[in-house]
Amino acid sequence: MKSIFVTRKIHEAGLAMLKKAGYKLTIYPKDQIIDRKTLLAGVKGKDAVLSLLTDPIDEAVFKAAGPKLKIVANYAVGFDNVDLKAAQAHKVVVTNTPSDKVNESVAEHTFALMLALAHRIPEADHFAKRGLYKGWSPTLLNGTDLNGKTLGLIGAGRIGSMVARHAVQGFGMKLLYSDMRPNEDLEKNFGGRKVSQDMLLKKADFISLHVPLLPSTIHLMSTKQFNLMKKTAFLINTARGPVVDEKALLKALRSKKFAGAALDVFECEPAIDCDLRDNLELKSFENVILTPHIASATEAARRAMSEVAAQNIIAVLKGKKPLTPAKV
Ligand code: GLV
Ligand code: GLV
Repeated sequence: MKSIFVTRKIHEAGLAMLKKAGYKLTIYPKDQIIDRKTLLAGVKGKDAVLSLLTDPIDEAVFKAAGPKLKIVANYAVGFDNVDLKAAQAHKVVVTNTPSDKVNESVAEHTFALMLALAHRIPEADHFAKRGLYKGWSPTLLNGTDLNGKTLGLIGAGRIGSMVARHAVQGFGMKLLYSDMRPNEDLEKNFGGRKVSQDMLLKKADFISLHVPLLPSTIHLMSTKQFNLMKKTAFLINTARGPVVDEKALLKALRSKKFAGAALDVFECEPAIDCDLRDNLELKSFENVILTPHIASATEAARRAMSEVAAQNIIAVLKGKKPLTPAKV
């Protein structure tokens, strides 16, 4: 009987599919990130591993698993936690979970953050709950509209394209994007214009990051980039923390280089702030909104992730091609 190691309890849907397919599942029983030692012991002799974005899957893991291992199905859209070169050397297939439901959830969360920034929702919520609302005022908590503004997408893949659809069709925004490849759909259907990243940074009112974490995207947003942004612009990051240089971000926020930021991911995750001596300075800005890496945390998205991971494992263990191989 083929056996699968699951590094943490996930949505039941995919686990049920794997059991029904006749595989033996070993699931790490604690609801916490698996420690390294237990991970290395757990993968030993397994045919498949279902991993999470919090598990570094590197040479040591492939070695510990041994020659039976055929697939690492990463329960995430991103797969920067997996060493693809090591996987290839060990002839192990790596897959991710880029389903429409997941992408929609991330795109909606991106939009929720944009709207919350523009309409100052968290500030207003705190204000009202602290009992500070004494009477309507024409100047109280004035924000900004999305309508008529320019969205700049850095990375125009599947998630970026969904954000573009909401922006253009839902809110009448204009669209700029920067990407290695042109995106015809964005240009034809949403009036998107491909520009250099510098041009995008200069022109956009909302800048949203949708690139994978690669050596070339680490600190893609740093001092030089923040200096190009409009004073009135907002930054949204639902991609990966290290895409934004946190030290440079703090400096830019202190000197009000731009209007605000919403972050779902952090450079030193799960720490919100890399430098703990800063006493979580990011938390101190009223124009910064923080959510704890929950952009795909909806029932539908988590179910889809679980099902796609299971479908990938079933396909590969049957000697077929994976549905969604991890590709850069
Ligand atoms: C979440 O961050 C994911 O990559 O799915
Ligand atoms: C605001 O409440 C308005 O009526 O304009």
